[in-house]
Amino acid sequence: MRISVFGLGPVGLVTAVSFCKKGYSVVGIDTDSYRVELIRSGDAPFFEPSLETGLREALDAGLLKTTSDSSVNTESDMSYITVGTPSSPDGSIDLTYIRGVASTIGKTLLSRNGYHLVLVKSTVTPGTARNVIKPILEKEAHKLAGTDFGLCSNPEFLREGRAMYDAEFPDRIIIGGESQSDLDKLEAFYNEVYGANTPTIIKTTYENAELIKYANNSFLAMKVSYINMIANLCQNIKGGDVEHVAKGIGLDRRIGSLFLRAGLGWGGSCFPKDLNAISAYGNNIGVKTALINAAITVNENQPLKAVELVERHIGDLKGKKIALLGLAFKPDTDDLREAVSIPIIATLLEKGAQVVGYDPAAIPNAKILLRDKIQFATSPVDCIRDADCCVIVTEWDEFKKISPAVFLETMRRPNVVDGRRIYDPSAFRQAGIKFSAIGLGET
Ligand code: UDX
Repeated sequence: MRISVFGLGPVGLVTAVSFCKKGYSVVGIDTDSYRVELIRSGDAPFFEPSLETGLREALDAGLLKTTSDSSVNTESDMSYITVGTPSSPDGSIDLTYIRGVASTIGKTLLSRNGYHLVLVKSTVTPGTARNVIKPILEKEAHKLAGTDFGLCSNPEFLREGRAMYDAEFPDRIIIGGESQSDLDKLEAFYNEVYGANTPTIIKTTYENAELIKYANNSFLAMKVSYINMIANLCQNIKGGDVEHVAKGIGLDRRIGSLFLRAGLGWGGSCFPKDLNAISAYGNNIGVKTALINAAITVNENQPLKAVELVERHIGDLKGKKIALLGLAFKPDTDDLREAVSIPIIATLLEKGAQVVGYDPAAIPNAKILLRDKIQFATSPVDCIRDADCCVIVTEWDEFKKISPAVFLETMRRPNVVDGRRIYDPSAFRQAGIKFSAIGLGET
C-alpha cells in the first residue's frame, strides 16, 4: 500500500511518519509551502516528542515525500484526509478545508486506474462523510463511491505529547463506511500494519464512526469536569480532599481511575472544539446535549478558581506580582490553544496584578499570543522571584521537583496555589508556606 496524507498538521504529520516507521511509502501534501519546506528539511513545525527523530529517519530512508502541489498524482493506493476542522462562531465545525481537500482528491481520482480508498481522519460531525465528502468526490471524479473508489471514516484518537505512541499502539481502530468491501479492505490493511498488536477493530456506519470520536472526547472531558465539580465541593468542606475522593471512586472498575485528576480545567485543540461542535450539532437536529453543555459550563468557571484562591491568600491584587508556573494547556506540549492560562492571565491583569509566566516549552507561542502583557521568566526560580503568590497552572515534571525551601527562599511572600495537585500539602504547610490547592478544604 502506498499512502497519501492530505494535511500535514499534528494529526497528518504524525500519521505520515508513523506509517513510514512501519516501512510504508508516504506522500504528504499540504498547501502551506513553508510548512512543506520545513518538513522536507527534517524540522517538525510543532513540538511533539519523538516526531522529529521519526521524521528524519523517514526522510533519510526515502519513505516520506512532501509537496505543496495538491494536484500532483501521488500514485498511491489510499488517501488520508487529515485537514483541520476549526470552530465556526456558533461552535459548529467549519468544513472549508474538508471541502477543498475532497475536491482535490476527487480530481486526482479521475486519472487513477486502481481502486483507491479515501479515509477521513479529520474530526467531523455525523453525516459529513456521506453528505459532504462523498458527493464532492463523486462529482469531481465522475466515479461512484463503493464501486469505483472507496470511502471510509477512520477517526483518530491521538493525544498531544503522546501522539507517536498512540499512532503506534492504538486502543482500538474505528472504521465507518457503507461498502462492506471497503470496510474489509481497510481492516486487512490495519491487520498488516499492526500485525500481532492489532487492537480491536470496530466496523460500523460512517455516522457511528464519526459520532464515536465526539462521544469519546466529550465523555473524557465530562469526567474531568465531573471531578472538578467534586473538587469544588471538597474545597468548601473542612478536611475535604478531592485526591482521596478520586482515588476512592476510581477504584470502582465501572468508573476507572483515569481522567479523574482535578485541576483548573481542560483545554487544547480537541476537547473545547469537539464539545462545542457536538453541542451545536445536537441543537441543529433538535437534541439537547445537557451533560455536555454542563461539562462546558463547569470548565468555563474552573480556571477562575485559581484567581479566587490567590485572592484568598493575598487579598487585593492591585500591584501584586503573581507567578504562573506553566502556560501550555497540558505538559509535554507547547500548545496554548484554549489553555486555562489565558483566562487566568486575563483575570489577573484585569484585577491589576503584575503577571510573570514560565513554561518549559510554550514561551515562544505565549510571546506571540500575549506579547508584552506579561513578563516571561527564564526558569521556575526566575519566575517566582519576589512574587507575592505562585500558581501551578500546568503540571510539568520540572515543577514537581521544586522543594518548599526554594519557594520560601525566593518569593517575596511564600503563597502557593497548586492548581494541578502536584505538591504534598502537609510538606508545604509544615515548611511554613501558605498553601492552598484545587479540591483541598481547610484543615
Ligand atoms: C484529547 C484526547 O485524549 C485524544 O484522544 C483526542 O484525539 C484529542 O483530544 P489532548 O487534547 O492531547 O487529547 O489531551 P488530553 O491528554 O486528553 O487532555 C485534555 C485536557 O484535559 C488537558 O487540558 C488536560 O490537562 C485535561 N485533563 C486530563 C485534566 O484536567 N485531568 C485529567 O485527569 C485528564
